[in-house]
Formats: sequence, C-alpha cells, structure tokens
Amino acid sequence: MEHFLLITDLDYTLVGDDEAMVQLNQRLEQHRQRYGTKIVYSTGRSPFLYQQLRDEKSLLAPDVVICSVGTEIFYQDLDSPFLEWSHKLSQAWDKELVINILADFSILKLQPTSEQRPFKVSYFLPEAAADIIPEIKSRLLEAKLDIQVIYSGGKDLDILPSQANKGMAMTFVRENLEIDVDKTVACGDSGNDIALFADKKEKGIIVGNAQPELLHWHQAHPHQNRYLATAKFAEGIAEGLQHFGFLTS
Ligand code: GLC
Ligand code: MG
Repeated sequence: MEHFLLITDLDYTLVGDDEAMVQLNQRLEQHRQRYGTKIVYSTGRSPFLYQQLRDEKSLLAPDVVICSVGTEIFYQDLDSPFLEWSHKLSQAWDKELVINILADFSILKLQPTSEQRPFKVSYFLPEAAADIIPEIKSRLLEAKLDIQVIYSGGKDLDILPSQANKGMAMTFVRENLEIDVDKTVACGDSGNDIALFADKKEKGIIVGNAQPELLHWHQAHPHQNRYLATAKFAEGIAEGLQHFGFLTS
C-alpha cells in the first residue's frame, strides 16, 4: 500500500450515513498514520457552516479544508485563508456588479449572509426555474464579468470568479502537497463537484446517491478514471477507493 490524496466533498458524499462514515474514517486514519495519506475536504459551505458540521459530526481532522466551492483554502486554522489563492482570485472579480445585475431576476433569492463570501455570491433557484440559468450567465458575461455559474442539488446557484472552483482548488492543493495525479482521488455527489472530474487527470468517485445534474454530466462524459459507485455516501467512497486499489477490501 502507498500514500494517496483523498479530496472529498462533505454533504451527501462523506456525510450522510454516520455508521459508514465512522467505518471509513477508521480505515483512512490508519492509512494516514501508516503511509502518510492526506485528507482534504472540499465543501460548498462557508467556514462558518463547515464549523457547524464539524461540531455535529465526528469528522477526521483534515490536512487541508477547501470551503465555499473552491474559493477559500485553509491549511491551518479557519481564520487564515491561504493568501496566495485569495490574491489570485481578487484580480478580476466584481462582487457588487454581480449582485446588482442579478437583482433584476426576481426568481433568485439570496442565500443567508454567512454563505455570501469574498469570492462567491449564492442564491436559491428552484429546479422548475433552472432553465433561466443560460440567461443569467449571458447577462453577467455581457457585462464583461469573468465569472462561472454553478448549479447544485436542484436548488443552489453559485457565481464564482472564473479562476476558482472545486477542481482548480484541488489541483492547486495537490501541487502544493506535491502528490502525483495518479495518487489523487476526488469524491462528490452534486453539480459543484463536476469541476473535480471535468478534464481532470485525478481519479474520481461519484457516490451512488449522486444528484441528477452530476449523473447526467457523467453519462455524457464517461471516463475510465471515474468510478460511479453503487453504494451511497461514505460506503460509496470506500467502494471507489477499493476499485482504484487505494484501499484493500
Ligand atoms: C453549500 C453552501 C451554499 C452553496 C451550496 C452549493 O450548501 O452553503 O452556499 O450554494 O453548497 O455549492
Ligand atoms: Mg455534496
């Protein structure tokens, strides 16, 4: 066995079945102690909501935490974001202009203040109205904003700088930790996780309970480096890790 880098989403990926998570955590912690395996969480949550989850669930202490859909990276404490990353994102980003333009779309409801972050503006958008997304995107692009629009779980709409998403943050952290692509595996369940898998050389695991937006994307872009698990949540991660030979059964 050898060390590897696990980058996993939290809600409905690692977290969702407490018993399966405890079992996987034991195996991962053993692997970390024996082989120096690294564990990175990549969540859509702000540091505030991440801390809430950490208080509620018995998560392993991660080596790195990526919050707010790839826009904030924390190596040590949650008060000090990795400045090199924030600096990169601040170059071409105008949060106020995004909010002003999107005020015209009455179907969009701003998410709570804790989820509005320096490099992320987030709304709720009902699935039944999701066909408005291309229009939202073109209005922002017409204003020459350098952004990307990400829809997750049939309800959350995030606007991010084009320089950051979960995938870009993963590559940045992986290179920083000096771990090879073929020893890296990313896990997810929803729309904001597509960036972990799209055009990536890292391996990917989609848990069995994944959201339709991710499943549709996966079906349209199949790849041998990506494994769709049968099992749900943490058990799906374990299944994928065994499939790729990172863990033995
Ligand atoms: C998390 C965040 C929310 C975001 C969603 C999808 O739930 O709290 O702000 O919209 O992930 O990325
Ligand atoms: Mg999720």
